[in-house]
Amino acid sequence: MKDFNFYAPTEVVFGKESEKQISQLIRKYGGTKVLLHYGGQSARRSGLLDEVKAQLTAANIPFTELGGVVPNPVLSKVYEGIDIVRRDSLDFILAIGGGSVIDSAKAIGYGICYDGDVWDFYSGKAQAKSCMPIGCVLTIPAAGSEMSYGCVITNDKTQRKWSYNCDLGRMKFAVMNPLRTYTLPAYQTAAGVTDIMMHTMERYFSHHDDMLLTDAIAEALLRTVKECGEKVLHDPENYQLRAQIMWGGSLAHNNLTECGTQKDFATHGLEHELSAMFGVTHGAGLAALWGSWARYVMHENITRFAQFAVNVLGVRNNFKDPEQTALEGVAAMEAFYHRIGMPASIPELIGRTLTEDELITLADNCSRGKTITIGNLKKLTYDDMLAIYRMANQ
Ligand code: NZQ
Ligand code: ZN
Repeated sequence: MKDFNFYAPTEVVFGKESEKQISQLIRKYGGTKVLLHYGGQSARRSGLLDEVKAQLTAANIPFTELGGVVPNPVLSKVYEGIDIVRRDSLDFILAIGGGSVIDSAKAIGYGICYDGDVWDFYSGKAQAKSCMPIGCVLTIPAAGSEMSYGCVITNDKTQRKWSYNCDLGRMKFAVMNPLRTYTLPAYQTAAGVTDIMMHTMERYFSHHDDMLLTDAIAEALLRTVKECGEKVLHDPENYQLRAQIMWGGSLAHNNLTECGTQKDFATHGLEHELSAMFGVTHGAGLAALWGSWARYVMHENITRFAQFAVNVLGVRNNFKDPEQTALEGVAAMEAFYHRIGMPASIPELIGRTLTEDELITLADNCSRGKTITIGNLKKLTYDDMLAIYRMANQ
């Protein structure tokens, strides 16, 4: 078992009445003038935005609004947010939405506390020394950004989608009301379930086989989110199901299932290039790639893939042939993706086969011009990345 630090400083306020505490929480974490940051339509359409505004007004907390964050959030919106916060001397950001809005808020928070270009953090030129305090009202369980140290931004000039991982940007609080997720379209629910499971799978497939408790937590999380995810598509207003998925989303990406393991995140690295180039939904992009990644790397630790097949997917263990068990597990996972309306290949994701030139561009971008590897179970070079993109393109 690998040594680890576990740091999860976000105050989680979970349940049907959770939003009532928003103004109190902003004050608790020092906010006096707030940037209300949100996405395209959903927060306005559901009435959530109006409710939050009424609550802040009643509590005498002034605010400025900045909506219009798009899925796969862009740098130009981050710059706009930084300008507004400086112009209005705001001191707190409230993100209302999902991973895209929360990540945009994190980037604004880093940018305000930095004299240079905030993109420097994403391109690896600089490390943040500080971040403006941020809280969120989560409306879609998926990215896990409400408790993670991750932040993924797309530079809309260069179409590069890069992450910056830093504890300073972690949410001060995360308000989570499963009722707010009833309005999610089935596709977003399914993509969210895929992303949640992937955050734990990216930590499960490692060379460290001796973390019994972490494995048990991870497998229970995966089984629960998978089962509830499949059921909720037929019963979208079931509070119990929505609640399990929402809490699962936070635990899947707050590092709990990383204790004692070594994270991999190669599927994520490969996917970020797909969503940068084609604007696809992140979770769907992961589903399109995972099976190919799994078949490509499984011999690095075949017993782990067999364990996953048996303990998470209910495949019958063929003790004489762990490879057979592992392969049945990958097929069962892909069958699950299909049952919830997710793709299991690139053509299923974007509706056509990519050209060889496009595959080469993806691999080149992912390896940053053949200068980096990704993943840990197997460190993927440019050639490995290209091979996996090719497999997923069939
Ligand atoms: O823009 P609106 O109108 O709000 O619509 C959104 C958006 O179209 C909609 N939506 C959200 N809540 C809703 C709703 N529709 C109806 N009812 C509701 N209650 O859902 C769509 C997707 O929202 P988005 O925030 O983009 O989804 P998600 O949470 O999946 O975030 C995706 C982004 O997070 C990044 C992804 O790469 C992608 O850019 N990630 C961030 C991570 C992190 N910070 O730790 C880790 C992840 O692996 C991921 O990479
Ligand atoms: Zn993800």
